[in-house]
Amino acid sequence: MIVYMKIRENVPIAELTTMRMGGFARYVVEITTVNDIVEAYKFADEKGLPTYILGGGSNTIGRDEGFDGVILLNKLRGIDVLGDDGETVTVQAMAGEKLDDLAAFTVERDLTGIEAMSAIPGTVGAAPVQNVGAYGQDIGAVLVSVEAFDTELRDFITLSVKELGFRYRRSILNSDMKKRFFVTAVTVRLRRGEIAGELYRSLQAYLDENGIADRRPATIRDAVIAVRAGKIPNPMKIASSGSFFKNVSVDEAEIDGLRAKFPNIPIYKIGESWEVAAGWLIEQTGLKGQLLHGMRVSDKAALILINESAGNYADLAAARAAIVAAVRDKFGLELEQEPEEI
Ligand code: EPU
Repeated sequence: MIVYMKIRENVPIAELTTMRMGGFARYVVEITTVNDIVEAYKFADEKGLPTYILGGGSNTIGRDEGFDGVILLNKLRGIDVLGDDGETVTVQAMAGEKLDDLAAFTVERDLTGIEAMSAIPGTVGAAPVQNVGAYGQDIGAVLVSVEAFDTELRDFITLSVKELGFRYRRSILNSDMKKRFFVTAVTVRLRRGEIAGELYRSLQAYLDENGIADRRPATIRDAVIAVRAGKIPNPMKIASSGSFFKNVSVDEAEIDGLRAKFPNIPIYKIGESWEVAAGWLIEQTGLKGQLLHGMRVSDKAALILINESAGNYADLAAARAAIVAAVRDKFGLELEQEPEEI
């Protein structure tokens, strides 16, 4: 078999992921055309090795033992306007594009729907997998369909928004059908004009403080970039994986009990589920800003862990255990890690 793909051997996972830790990956294959996907899975099959799909590496953490398999590095590029009915515009982006570049593309065209997801470090392909969202918007709300390679059927297929089953930080792509599909492109339909509805609290506060009244996509994008810069370390510069913990889902029946015990507890309704702000829970334990086993609990946003001097994954695991235990002891709530592991 002639393989034209770029294949590298024994690559440190630390170099491919923004948390910058972990052992070696046996093979890394760069996917620049959809045909490379077919070839890459053939290559893995021939070697009898498992695969792992990686985009920007901002939501994947490497373990010390490394990965004895094939990493498929998604570098599929291109953003196109597919349709325009005057009110809405349909845009398709290849999965290896940066989500922020797609946000910029749509904002330039005065489209609303993903401008609040500006400055998220991940790729377009990762967005539907974990229903990426920020400041009141999530990809599930504007998504039309996802193009993907089905590793079971060995064919290219289309998944509709309905089939993807979006919930808070969840879709079939990271739950029931985890690892079955390689996302190649994402299609969104966006509306012309201003962001609708009530704004996310910290975003509204920023606009108020700066006397900004308009709600154009470009204004919202600039505001989000400014708010994020003040709170969320840029993982390209500071080793982290963004939010290290998910907000904690609770049943509606638990809410009154929690509020009675902890009157200020921030609980939000996201879609159909109720979420307790994990950053607040961690801050209340007194761990915000602390250094645990080389991992820093960010002093600006407590659900972000920064790899300041952790020697290895075991250090991260020890820091995680300490934080999870502190929140469990104080609130009886169980924190869950947000990034994937390889
Ligand atoms: N809070 C604290 N202390 C903290 C951090 C937050 O008390 O140290 C409180 C805030 O005051 C607020 C609440 O917790 O009442 C929520 O905080 P924030 O608005 O900053 O958002 P978040 O729930 O902590 C989520 C996402 C972020 C996303 C922001 C903005 C998750 C796991 N995280 O954080 O996503 O940028 O909302 O929409 O859903 C990411 O996934 O990597 C990420 C950065």
